[in-house]
Amino acid sequence: MTSTQHTPNPRDNFLRENNGRHQIHPMTHPLIIEQRPPRIIVKGEGSYVTDIDGKTYVDGVGGLWNVNVGHNRPEVKAAIAAQMEDISYYSSFAGTVTPPSIELSTKIIEMTAEENMARVLFSANGSDAVETALKLSRQYWKLEGEPERTGFISLKQGYHGIQFGGTSVNGSTLYRSASGPLLPGCYQVDSPWTYRNPYSEDPEALSEAVITQIDRLIQHQGAHTIAAFIAEPVQGAGGIIVPPASFWPRLRQVLDKYGILLISDEVVTGFGRTGAMFGARGWGVKPDIMCFAKGITAGYIPLGATVINERVFAAWQKGIDPTGFIMHGYTATGHALGCAAANATLKIVEDEDLPANAGRMGKRLMDGLKDITNWSSLVGEVRGKGLMVGLDLVADKASREPIDPGKGQGEMVATFARDEGVIVRPAGPVIIISPPLTLSENETDKIVDALIKALRRYEEEK
Ligand SMILES: Cc1ncc(COP(=O)(O)O)c(C=O)c1O
Repeated sequence: MTSTQHTPNPRDNFLRENNGRHQIHPMTHPLIIEQRPPRIIVKGEGSYVTDIDGKTYVDGVGGLWNVNVGHNRPEVKAAIAAQMEDISYYSSFAGTVTPPSIELSTKIIEMTAEENMARVLFSANGSDAVETALKLSRQYWKLEGEPERTGFISLKQGYHGIQFGGTSVNGSTLYRSASGPLLPGCYQVDSPWTYRNPYSEDPEALSEAVITQIDRLIQHQGAHTIAAFIAEPVQGAGGIIVPPASFWPRLRQVLDKYGILLISDEVVTGFGRTGAMFGARGWGVKPDIMCFAKGITAGYIPLGATVINERVFAAWQKGIDPTGFIMHGYTATGHALGCAAANATLKIVEDEDLPANAGRMGKRLMDGLKDITNWSSLVGEVRGKGLMVGLDLVADKASREPIDPGKGQGEMVATFARDEGVIVRPAGPVIIISPPLTLSENETDKIVDALIKALRRYEEEK
């Protein structure tokens, strides 16, 4: 594995000196970054990354649950380079297009045929894909002659990116409070979270309780005011929350009762991470709109995509009318390099059947980690689906009270895991594990070993 090696060079000192001094990093306080500059990652190969000090780690985060095909794949690099030889960028606005977006749109509609998807609108990020979905769902209802349908319902603990629409439907006040006032008419209901809820430990009873809550909210607000329900098939950033198996099918039923659109935010779950090609497909549910990003290009180039089904697209098929113009789109829409990267990435996802590998390695990971709750004072639950796995850290095992993230216990465990050669991500009170979907058995076992050692060391040093 020679390409994980880093040869020290004069630039390294410049990087160390200026690291954290001029750049604002997401989701933290700027002064924390100044005091504790981030780790500088200089190389990646397969499931491994190397830092500036020459230490190599298993990438248990998968970049940011996006490098699904692993780092440094020659096929993806070659596709990007070949496209650059032709042209790096040309606009998708007003009468022009570049070849990769035509190929990618065809591929995505083919891959989502089971969900009856009809059209795709490209963007640059998951947040864009969500914003596009929210705006198109409102326009859909205007075209359908129900302009009052503007409201959105979502789940607590949900994460839908950082633009104003996405922030408004976000299920955590942590993200919302700094930038309000937000969009009116956005309602959050309880997440069907078996480990922490006031209703029931029984997954099916819990699922019904949340469905009843949704039904009652819709009745209270009036179905004629609600445009869409948006949710992640497995909640990611909110703490790896896997809903009971009946939840998504029951959600689809209750939304159908009122004609409300279902937006599946597949930014993390899309293209294999949960063990199915799409998260909603894994629950046997066909959404009306799907949001993609991250794994679509495995992070090699940013790209977002919002896909609408036949039902939604039918509103635009009635004829050409000024109200049907889609006054939305990004300079990056259909970006030639992003789409070229996605074409090569999706070929790997299919050729290597990465959803199946995510299912197998996810099970191995969970099997390896599940005993931890029997001896660790910190880990209350190990949960996940496919290669989205979380360790829920608790202050008190009996009451399941989460740790106070400010006390740094998650960071401590992550630091110990890094000492063992594995990077994992503490996100609030949950340690998230989301490696590349190409992960091997041996690499899976390395993550398990490192976390067990890190948590044992925590018990000794706490
Ligand atoms: C479910 C979900 N939706 C949307 C987003 C936003 O994507 P991006 O950070 O690419 O804007 C994320 C990012 O993690 C996500 O997890």
